[in-house]
Parts: sequence; structure tokens; C-alpha cells
Amino acid sequence: MGGESVSKWGEAIGRQLIERLPAGDGPWRFHILLPEDTERGFGRGRGKLIEREVMEFLKKRQRRLIRSLNPAAAPPFLPGESLAQAVLISSGAGWIGVADANLRHRFRRIMSPFPGGEAPVADDRFPPSRAYRKLLEAEQHLGVSLAAGESCVELGASPGGWSAIVLRRGVRLIAIDRSPLRADLMRSPHLQFIRGDAFRFQPEQSVDWLLSDLIASTDRLIDLLTAWIAARWCRRFIFTIKFKGDEDYPRLEPLKQFLDQHCTEYKLRCLRHNRNEVTAMGLL
Ligand SMILES: C[S@@+](CC[C@H](N)C(=O)[O-])C[C@H]1O[C@@H](n2cnc3c(N)ncnc32)[C@H](O)[C@@H]1O
Repeated sequence: MGGESVSKWGEAIGRQLIERLPAGDGPWRFHILLPEDTERGFGRGRGKLIEREVMEFLKKRQRRLIRSLNPAAAPPFLPGESLAQAVLISSGAGWIGVADANLRHRFRRIMSPFPGGEAPVADDRFPPSRAYRKLLEAEQHLGVSLAAGESCVELGASPGGWSAIVLRRGVRLIAIDRSPLRADLMRSPHLQFIRGDAFRFQPEQSVDWLLSDLIASTDRLIDLLTAWIAARWCRRFIFTIKFKGDEDYPRLEPLKQFLDQHCTEYKLRCLRHNRNEVTAMGLL
């Protein structure tokens, strides 16, 4: 697919959408992805303009698609919703792909309702570390958030970026780390802090959430997560798995098989705010 000017791109993408979107009035959403503004005059800044041109083209040529467009495009996907994605790699070249609801469901663990797979996270100055952004991203990908009154164990919680978020929401938190959280968080009435080795901790009763951002070897982290799930010590989890280099990436394959068997839903994603890490999140 090629376009060059904003209006040519609008027309080229519009024609492809008319051809490729499934017949019928099922809802659909549209993502347009451009590189950072590198080439002169071409880049992310153009995305909104091209999208407007696409919609103008469809208004003239195929109104039914305007009527069935999901304009809010907030997650989660609607039942039967198709996803159309245009990826423009330069001012003259790009790809377009349309996934109908069946295809989308088959690839639901990797196909995201967020453009480019990036869930938006607002800046927050309250948490003592920027790691809180990983938690907020993960909740959105999972489609479930920690809520007031729920119980949670957090392994490797210091200095308290994730803890600050969940304590502010009124979640009952047991946090385990070798170092304390920031002083004001340590005074929270919702917090029970345990100084010690997170790998040795076992809850007295099962909790709603397991959170972990522990730093340890990939093997130890995967073994810890699977032990918690096998014992059903939590109903839900958000758990960062860290890597050194890339030699441990194949360890994710047996983990996927384990999660297939034990979870009603799960995702393994390298989030925008993950470094050499993957966030495992799921519901038992
Ligand atoms: C990346 S930091 C966690 C950051 C935290 N999520 C936040 O938002 O501020 C990892 C933490 O794991 C803790 N940790 C590593 N190994 C541990 C262990 N065996 N037991 C308890 N804590 C451990 C470290 O002390 C460190 O505070």
C-alpha cells in the first residue's frame, strides 16, 4: 500500500478498508501507526490527519463503515468487533491488516485493543518509583484492576511504587521485601509489611492478588509463580519475569503450557515500561 500525501493515504487506506472489512454491520476499530517523526514532515504527527482523511473518504464512499465504527475504541473489544490496523513505515509505504472477530479471538493473547499494544499511563508523582507504570499498564491489558477491600500479596515491593497505587485504592496489602517501603507507606493502615525473603513466604490463606516485581533469575521467578498458581494461593496475578540477555527466553514456552492448563485467562507481554522483562498476568 502506498500514499505519499495525507489525502492519498486517506484514499488508499479507505479503499483497502472497504475491500477488507467483513460484510455486515459488525463493529470495528481502527489503529494507525507511524514511526517517530524521523523523515522530514512524516511521522506520528501525521497519524491523526491521515485518520481524518480516511474517515472523510469512507463518509463519501461507504457510510455503513462509519456507522459501524467503534469511535470510543476503549478496551475491551466489543463482541464481534474487527480490528483494522494500518502501519505506515515511510511517506510512501505501509501495510494494512484486518482481523475479524474470529481471528482476533484466536490471537487474543497478543492482539491488543490499544494502538500499537501500548496502554496509556498518566504521570503520577505520588509513587516513590516509576515502576508503578508497569502495574497500571498490566491492569489495563488484563482488563481487571485491584479494587478497595481486596487482598493482595506483593513480593519484592520496595521502595513501594506498586504498593503506593494499591494502598491508595484501599487494597489490603501484605508486602514482603528485605528493605522497607517509603516511610509514609509503611504507616498505611492497609499495610502489613514483612521484612524477609519473598521466596520463603507462604500466605495463611489465599488472596485475591499476587503481585511481584522481584529481581531474581528467570528460573527462580518462573518456579515461584507456578508454585503460587499450583497451590491456588491467589485468584489473579501480575508478575514480572526478568531476563539476563536472551538465553532464557525459551523458558517462556513451558510457562505458557502451564498457564494454559491452570488459568482461565492469561497474557505474557513485554510492556512499554518493561525493560528486559515480560509481565505475566492472569486469572485462575
Ligand atoms: C525492582 S525492585 C521492586 C520495585 C517495586 N515494584 C516498586 O514499584 O517500587 C525489586 C525488589 O525486590 C527485592 N528483592 C529481591 N530479592 C528479594 C528476596 N529474595 N526477598 C525479598 N525481596 C527481594 C529487592 O529488595 C527490591 O526492593
